Amino acid sequence: MTAIEKWDTIHKARDWGLYPDNHLVRFVMRNRDMLGKVALDVGCGVGAQSIFLAQQGFDVVGIDASPTAIGKARMWGSSFASLTYEVGNATNIIEDDNTFDFVTDVCCLQHIPAPDHIKALEEIARVLKPFGVFFSITAKWDHAPSDDTPLRTLRQGDARALYGRFFRIQYLDEASFTDGGGRRTISHWIICCVKGE
Ligand SMILES: C[S@@+](CC[C@H](N)C(=O)[O-])C[C@H]1O[C@@H](n2cnc3c(N)ncnc32)[C@H](O)[C@@H]1O
Repeated sequence: MTAIEKWDTIHKARDWGLYPDNHLVRFVMRNRDMLGKVALDVGCGVGAQSIFLAQQGFDVVGIDASPTAIGKARMWGSSFASLTYEVGNATNIIEDDNTFDFVTDVCCLQHIPAPDHIKALEEIARVLKPFGVFFSITAKWDHAPSDDTPLRTLRQGDARALYGRFFRIQYLDEASFTDGGGRRTISHWIICCVKGE
């Protein structure tokens, strides 16, 4: 089974990802000058981040490789005229160059096996407008392994080198918590980048 087929199975089996990430919420609320712009949610799953962005006034396109996730996202987001969804792969985004002011990746790229995650970053840089913002939440080296999907983790130097190939990194923070009564550590880089001219 491919990584994408595994994700489709997960989205069929349970409702995965029903609420917006608190780091994205904080980032958007602190950067209110971006509101009303055009956003892409890469690996949107069932659409929790996309719905939050639409509620805040963005025009949003959500893409996900799982047809089941997009089916659920369309159902749950049906009341937002400013929200559209597409089944699509982050490594081959169908949108034109320089389309989006803001792109978000909440834990999608970390599940794209190497070397395709590099292609996904290249695609995100292509569809971002000059000076557009890319906000990525991606697994840190000490993130617990994923049971059913591939997980690409990064050390800080590797994260800086990888994202720095395509963007100017504004900041790179870390955020960790434990899950299951302390059995698993969920550990991410919160990376804010800007596309150059
Ligand atoms: C950890 S989930 C995150 C979902 C969503 N961003 C959220 O925060 O709820 C990862 C998502 O990435 C999607 N995905 C995995 N590989 C992908 C790819 N190559 N292109 C697009 N989406 C992909 C999966 O289907 C899944 O919905």
